[in-house]
Amino acid sequence: MDLSVCPRSYLITLFLFLFHSETESFPFVKMSSKRQAYRIWDIYQKTFYLRNNQLVAGYLQGSNTNLEEKIDLVSIEPDSVLLGIHDGRLGLACVKTGGTPKLQLEAVNITDLDKNQQESKRFTFIKSENDSICRFESAACPGWFLCTQTESDRPVGLSNTQANTITRFYFQRE
Ligand SMILES: *[C@@H]1O[C@H](CO)[C@@H](O)[C@H](O)[C@H]1NC(C)=O
Ligand SMILES: *[C@@H]1O[C@H](CO)[C@@H](O)[C@H](O)[C@H]1NC(C)=O
Repeated sequence: MDLSVCPRSYLITLFLFLFHSETESFPFVKMSSKRQAYRIWDIYQKTFYLRNNQLVAGYLQGSNTNLEEKIDLVSIEPDSVLLGIHDGRLGLACVKTGGTPKLQLEAVNITDLDKNQQESKRFTFIKSENDSICRFESAACPGWFLCTQTESDRPVGLSNTQANTITRFYFQRE
């Protein structure tokens, strides 16, 4: 029996293992570079804009229509997305303060985020679509959806109820 066969087969196994794990991680890394801008408006036609560094939804008119914020989206999985504004430099995060989930803008680069799933979880939303209408459920706070208020010029937030809030949006690629 040739003794050199054994180490060589080890090497081949190791090589195949390394090759396998690299090909597995490749699609994930590749997806992280995609960022796309979308227009968003709720089913009552309210668009998003910033007021005192807070995201609010209202009816922008005249020259104010320039203030409309587009949503930047990075796909992690087909229905799992990271959301941000300002070219993805401000992320939409779900943060629990005093037990209640709140929507918060954080200065991060969402295009960089999805390499570390734990860090990106609060920025992750499960996007579902039905009849061109989208809903965005927080991955960190299940049951809580991105929402606007029925009144205009009120903060964009998170809601776990359909009452008095709007959780349905039109969402269209720029
Ligand atoms: C965000 O991250 C991406 C990917 O690393 C990079 O290409 C881009 O320049 C970054 N954007 C900013 C504003 O830093
Ligand atoms: C999709 O919307 C239609 C009405 O527009 C509704 O009848 C149907 O139940 C909805 N489907 C889901 C899965 O929510």
